[in-house]
This record gives sequence, structure tokens and C-alpha cells, in this order.
Amino acid sequence: MSGSTSIVIFGASGDLNHRKLLPALFNLYRKKRIPENFQILGFATRDWDDHKFRTEMEAAAVQFCTFDYSYDEWLDFSEHLYYMSGNFTNPDDFEVLADRLQQLESGPSDRMFYLASAPRFFLPIVQELGRLGLVDEAEGKRRVVVEKPIGTDLASAHALNEGLSQVLKEEQIFRIDHYLGKESVQNLLVFRFANAIFEPIWNRNYIDHVQITVAEEVGVAHRAGYYDNVGVLRDMFQNHLIQLVSLVAMEPPANFEADSIRDEKVKVLRSIRPITIDEIATETVRGQYRGYCESPGVAERSQTETFAALRLYIDNWRWQDVPFYLRSGKKLAEKCTEIAIQFKCPPVQMFPLPQDFEMTANILGMCIQPDEGIHLKFEAKVPDTAAETRSVDMEFHYRDSFGETSIPEAYERLCLDALQGDATLFTRAGAAELSWKFIDPILEAWKSPNGPPLTSYEPGSWGPDEAHEFLSSEGRWWIRTCGDHAVQVIDPLKK
Ligand code: BG6
Repeated sequence: MSGSTSIVIFGASGDLNHRKLLPALFNLYRKKRIPENFQILGFATRDWDDHKFRTEMEAAAVQFCTFDYSYDEWLDFSEHLYYMSGNFTNPDDFEVLADRLQQLESGPSDRMFYLASAPRFFLPIVQELGRLGLVDEAEGKRRVVVEKPIGTDLASAHALNEGLSQVLKEEQIFRIDHYLGKESVQNLLVFRFANAIFEPIWNRNYIDHVQITVAEEVGVAHRAGYYDNVGVLRDMFQNHLIQLVSLVAMEPPANFEADSIRDEKVKVLRSIRPITIDEIATETVRGQYRGYCESPGVAERSQTETFAALRLYIDNWRWQDVPFYLRSGKKLAEKCTEIAIQFKCPPVQMFPLPQDFEMTANILGMCIQPDEGIHLKFEAKVPDTAAETRSVDMEFHYRDSFGETSIPEAYERLCLDALQGDATLFTRAGAAELSWKFIDPILEAWKSPNGPPLTSYEPGSWGPDEAHEFLSSEGRWWIRTCGDHAVQVIDPLKK
């Protein structure tokens, strides 16, 4: 049995650790979910010591904790925090790390190494850990958490996975997609497979189409240096949106174990129809918000997309010919992530509708954030009319059913799972690569003369007009389901 648990965070002086990791670990400590005997060792280039690290992290905890901060709890927790300044490519610094770990650990210990550094250091760090035997499992569990991005295209993702596999077994690698740690994303599987009433209609016979929207109000802010080389397709679609697609579309797994679930998700990825260069202009839209090129750190005539929409098809028995419309962008009207499942209209229209009205289809809205919940839109008879119908909304809000503070941060769940070795919510090498296999040709085709033009949109809008025409040309509209309001079908072009 291991004596203690060590968490080593590479890139501990960075933004991710301040905003997400440390607050998540602190909350796990408060909830007594971290093993009692533990140490967190920050490793980064800044010339800090333990004291400075604790002071910095305290400020971060006060600013970013989403629970009630207590100084006494912080004092207890902070005694477990340590820091060493080092260079990610300097072998001598890793020797120091090995010594430091040995001093801190009381005997054989479990270790979790968290790669929160710049991605170019992921492999050099793991190679050093391997060289010094720090990830050998003879004396305890050794797990490595890899932050996104897993590469910037299929070739680089494959090279990274190959490099990792030379040092680590796949079971030791935990590739994070923080969307999978969101409570409402995990609820997708519960909703689908713990209820008997939805699964029979969850297919091409009853579903007209699926929409996934991941909208952000913020622009690129201080991340322009990174973002301008990446764009929304790599930043959001390759990971978060494709993961959401696979959870909506997957078959029921044999059981709730990591590999069973991940096997089913991979089958979906394998069935996604590639978008060819001939289809690129009709199947995708790309846009950039006005003023983006003036942001500090963005190239003068940058062609980087800050918005994209695309239509994809899943070629299998369940989903053949059902379009999945995906959109995501920065500087949009509001922050919201939601999935709308639009069902088919009744086959016969027997009720009198007001002039110019069409029968409205049932819509199931799954709000991932910020107002986590589920909405079901269905038709009801308007009282005191002969047979007039109107859409009404049946709602479930997490905050009403489980209380305001019941939803933990995604990183909390993911850190705990990685510490416990549960890989269900993490991405396997193959899945990350399959996702790139779909994204790469789109990025390539966008560079060709066949690609859709880079359109522009007003900050604070719902994206370029082309994204609305993209759906309206098929008689469909983007749907909003989140928030306190009933499900709305928005067609800004019609306003
Ligand atoms: C990250 C992206 O993965 O997700 C960011 O790199 C984006 O650009 C963020 O802002 C959105 O995450 P969330 O949890 O706020 O929706």
C-alpha cells in the first residue's frame, strides 16, 4: 500500500493552475476526497519558493474558488503546497525534482503528474520522467494528465501519442477534455440510458436533426498569441464539440466502465462522414468578428476564424441522413452551450392553425451551461379555443432540483478521477486522432480556392448571416433552449 500521494503540476505558475487546478484541488481537499497524506509540488520556470507559491495560490483561491472560501481551511490545505523552479528541458532540474519528491514522500507513494505547461514541453517532460524512472509503477501508481491540445493536426497528435506510448502505458495517460468533466455533459449518458422513454425515439426515425451550439461572449483577450495560430475549429470543434457529438450519438455501452463507454464513442467518430473539398463551401461557414485583427497579438491581416458552423453526418444505422449542425464562436451574444434535438413533425396535421403558422416540432434542449438543465418543448391546447395549439416548455433546472452549489467545477471531477485512475472521462489516443482525421481536411480545404470566404460578424451578434442562411436554406433555424425562457426558435434573418 502507498504511503502518500504526490501531485506534481508542470506549469504551476500559469493561468490554468491559478484559475482551475488549484481551486479544484482545494475543494476536493475540503470535501475530504483527496487521500489524507498528500503533497502538491508545483514545477515551473518562475523563480518562486514554497512561500511565494503559497501566497500566489492563496490569492488565486480567493479570486477563483466557486465555493465559500475559508481562511482556516486554506491554511490547512496550503501546508501541503510546495514549489520548485525548473526548466522543462533541463535534465538537471528533473534530478532535483526526483530528490525533492523523495524528501516529500513518506515511503512508496502514488504520483500524478499534471502537464499544464505549454504543449511543446509535454513530450520532453514525459521523456525526462521516464529517464529517471519517475513513472515506473513498482512502488505505486503513476499517472500523467495531459492537457489539451493533443497536437495541432493528425500528424502532430500521432507523434505526441507515439512519444507518450514509448514511456507510458495507455492506462497511465489521462488526456483531458474539460467538457467531459462538466456535470451536465456527464448527465447526457444518464439521461439517455437511465431513462427508458427517450432511447426508443433516439434515432433517424423520429429525429429531424441535432444542433450543438457552444457560444462564448468573450473574445481572445490575452490569449491572442495562442489563438491566432489555432482558430475555433482546432480550439473548440476538434475536442469539445466532437466529444458532445459522440455522447449524443453513441450506442448504449455494455456497461458503465471506461473502455466500454470509450469504445462506443470511438465507433461514432469512425462513422462521421468526412467533408470533402467539393462540399466544403456548402457544408461549412467560417467567420471572424469585427475588430479581431486589432486585438494585441493578432496578425494584421489574420485569416484565423473565430466562428465556425458545419453540418456533419454520421453514417450508421441510427443516424443515417440526420444532419448534425455544429456552431461555435467567440464574441457572440451570450455564453451558452446547448444541444437541441429537433424531432420530426406529426405525420398528419389535423388541428386548425392560425394563418401562416406551421406545426412546430417537439424540441428537446439540453443546456450544458450556464443554466444547466433540460427543456422539452411540446404542443398544448390553448384554453378557451376550439383546438388551437401553442408550444409550451417543460423544464428541469439543476439549481432548482439540486440547489445552487451542487454543481462542481469540471476540473474537480477530472482531477479526482485521474487520482483514482478512472479513465471514463478521458480521451484515448485513437479517439483524439480520429477527431483530427475529420478536422484536418476541413482546415486544408479552407485554404483552397474552394473554401468558403472568411465572413465577418458583429461582436455581440449570433455570428455571420451566412451561418443563418446555412440552415434557413433547408427550412431550419438555430434553436435556443437555455435560460429561464421557454425554448425559442430564432431566425434573426426573419426579424
Ligand atoms: C477551452 C478553449 O478549451 O475552452 C477556450 O481553449 C474556451 O478558448 C474554453 O474559451 C471554453 O470553456 P468553457 O468551459 O468556459 O465553456
